[in-house]
Amino acid sequence: MRLIYVAGKGGVGKSVTSAATGMWASRQGKETLAFSMDPAHSLSDIFEIDLGSKPTQISDRLSGYEPDLREESRNFYRRYKSMLTALFGLFEMEVKPDDFGSMPGVNELIFMDKLYDVLLEKTYEIIVIDSAPTAMVLPLLQLPSVTTGFVTRILGVRKKWMGVLNMLESGFGDAVLNEVRSMRMKAETMRTVLIDPEVATINVVTIPEKAAVMESRRLIKTVESHGVNVSSIIINHVVGTGCQCDYCLHKRESQLSYIDELKKDYNNKLVATLPDYAGEVKGTGLEQVVRDLYEKGQLTI
Ligand SMILES: Nc1ncnc2c1ncn2[C@@H]1O[C@H](COP(=O)(O)OP(=O)(O)OP(=O)(O)O)[C@@H](O)[C@H]1O
Ligand SMILES: [Mg+2]
Repeated sequence: MRLIYVAGKGGVGKSVTSAATGMWASRQGKETLAFSMDPAHSLSDIFEIDLGSKPTQISDRLSGYEPDLREESRNFYRRYKSMLTALFGLFEMEVKPDDFGSMPGVNELIFMDKLYDVLLEKTYEIIVIDSAPTAMVLPLLQLPSVTTGFVTRILGVRKKWMGVLNMLESGFGDAVLNEVRSMRMKAETMRTVLIDPEVATINVVTIPEKAAVMESRRLIKTVESHGVNVSSIIINHVVGTGCQCDYCLHKRESQLSYIDELKKDYNNKLVATLPDYAGEVKGTGLEQVVRDLYEKGQLTI
């Protein structure tokens, strides 16, 4: 099983490259899932198929999945009800199941939980994750250690606590402990998966412009400092050589300097370029992306 996490700044082409990667992987005979971890799902739109909230078949060996965050936050709340009640009680907060989903960090927890379920099923050989803009990668990477730390602390004080919790309601303390243990197990599994270069890689998508390149460098540095492997960089929206007008000549020259810089500095990674197609990429338009990225041998699965 392999996990390909597609990351990058907002709007650079993560969803399009995730979709193309999923298509290519399935055509290599791998049972593949394109998994959207962006609350603003866009895979349905790109594949031009309504993916719904369960893994849905798109084509031979390719499925797509856009978890419904409202529904899943309710399921998550139910699954960890005792732990959450104890936790919110501790801070004297009253949180209703429907409000829970809009708390910061909760989307990440839910996606992590869903990803764990998918991994456990072992249905897919390749899971391509279409992520939300950069900001979300960090919580995803930090979550396992934060959760493990939190859980270890709870387990550390359990003697003092569990008696009190059990007094509040018979079996409540034990229910909290079981949920906490289940969460720790998931967090540790996810951590093991994410730091195994044989299993997880990150493909960083960027565009050849100063701010985007700087952000990509920071992203690569951060995820690699967490021990996660970045295998490829995809530089999108590269202006073709067709037009010789001043604007295009100038733009190409500036883009080339960033492309060269990235190729030189990351010569241990695959650095691919994708032309600007001068229009939205979806449906059959994805075929060209598959050709440019994979059939031409710029990237491999
Ligand atoms: N090479 C390209 N040429 C032309 N249009 C492109 C190209 N790549 C992506 N696009 C278009 O740019 C828009 C953004 O692409 P996409 O949704 O893949 O980006 P994203 O990084 O996933 O964005 P977000 O951060 O909002 O999720 C889409 O309309 C897509 O069709
Ligand atoms: Mg997207």
